Amino acid sequence: MNILVTGGTGYIGSHTCIALLESGHSVIIADNLSNSKSESIKKIIDISKKEVTFFEIDVTDEEAVDHIFRNHEIDGVIHFAGLKAVGESVEKPLEYYYNNVVSTMVLTKACQTYGVNRFVFSSSATVYGDNTVPFVETMSLLPTTNPYGETKAMSERILTDFANVNPSFSVSLLRYFNPVGAHESGLIGESPNGIPNNLMPYVTQVAKGKLHNLRVFGNDYPTIDGTGIRDYIHVLDLAEGHVAALENQTEGVHVYNLGTGKGTSVLELVKAFEEANDIEVPFEIVDRRPGDIASCYAETSKAKRELGWSAKRDIVTMCRDAWRFEKNNME
Ligand SMILES: NC(=O)c1ccc[n+]([C@@H]2O[C@H](COP(=O)([O-])OP(=O)(O)OC[C@H]3O[C@@H](n4cnc5c(N)ncnc54)[C@H](O)[C@@H]3O)[C@@H](O)[C@H]2O)c1
Repeated sequence: MNILVTGGTGYIGSHTCIALLESGHSVIIADNLSNSKSESIKKIIDISKKEVTFFEIDVTDEEAVDHIFRNHEIDGVIHFAGLKAVGESVEKPLEYYYNNVVSTMVLTKACQTYGVNRFVFSSSATVYGDNTVPFVETMSLLPTTNPYGETKAMSERILTDFANVNPSFSVSLLRYFNPVGAHESGLIGESPNGIPNNLMPYVTQVAKGKLHNLRVFGNDYPTIDGTGIRDYIHVLDLAEGHVAALENQTEGVHVYNLGTGKGTSVLELVKAFEEANDIEVPFEIVDRRPGDIASCYAETSKAKRELGWSAKRDIVTMCRDAWRFEKNNME
């Protein structure tokens, strides 16, 4: 298939492009490089040994998106492009709503105009809000504590409403848990701007001495050691989940959790990282961070049953691959 990948030069998008190319699909990337670099394209080509087509466009730009659809035979869209910093979304709600929601509408409209019937959307476990773990796809969504989460819930709703009146449209809403790790080549991985929001890049930057110590937000949650529990998933497993979702798509709306189903606490992750890489990660406990929940992990049987997909890589592999990328790539 010929797949339009929006946000394809970003962290998850670039790994997914490689997985798509390795599975025999062709890839057209649309990205405005607001949170990634064009060198990503070269790395995707180097790793996969396949060509890709790249458009530096903003996917909220209807005209620019239309141009791609008009000039290329597109079989499906994977929509990663989005702003993703939870804290920043509270500061800049309009930017987040505009970017993340309008992009979904523009792409869906182009699909309608050009008869493209496969769509895969990057959603997030955030949409479950403070439900009881493990999160199951059938749960009612609860309000999230930030505009970022709402943009995901709104985009899911837009795509669902569209699919309901367009029976030949297939949409997979993929709710990611906590993607970490990097490609085993060490060439691509997660390189956030500024101080990382997510735990793993924070840990790798502390290990490298770039940041002084890890701040652990709260040790009084009702969890095994008081620190927050998350479901970390290797980004390559996540990438393969997208290929499985695309290749197994049937008409209608399909929601899948992409996680491992296993919760790991912050302190467990730090220990696993130290042991896997034989390096120390100094940390201090600080106050809870507003908006964080105690536990978040997936119930994963639906993806296994319907897509034949499940995460294979363990926490040690995630820690090793994240560290290899950090050592190779960051100043
Ligand atoms: N990383 C996570 O922890 C996580 C968890 C759940 C969901 N997600 C979602 O997965 C998707 C990909 O996340 P990521 O971690 O790879 O982020 P990322 O920032 O590395 O990648 C997003 C890409 O989209 C591009 N982009 C943003 N707005 C755009 C626009 N209007 N037009 C064109 N390009 C645009 C950016 O330049 C970037 O390359 C996002 O939608 C994110 O919300 C991520």
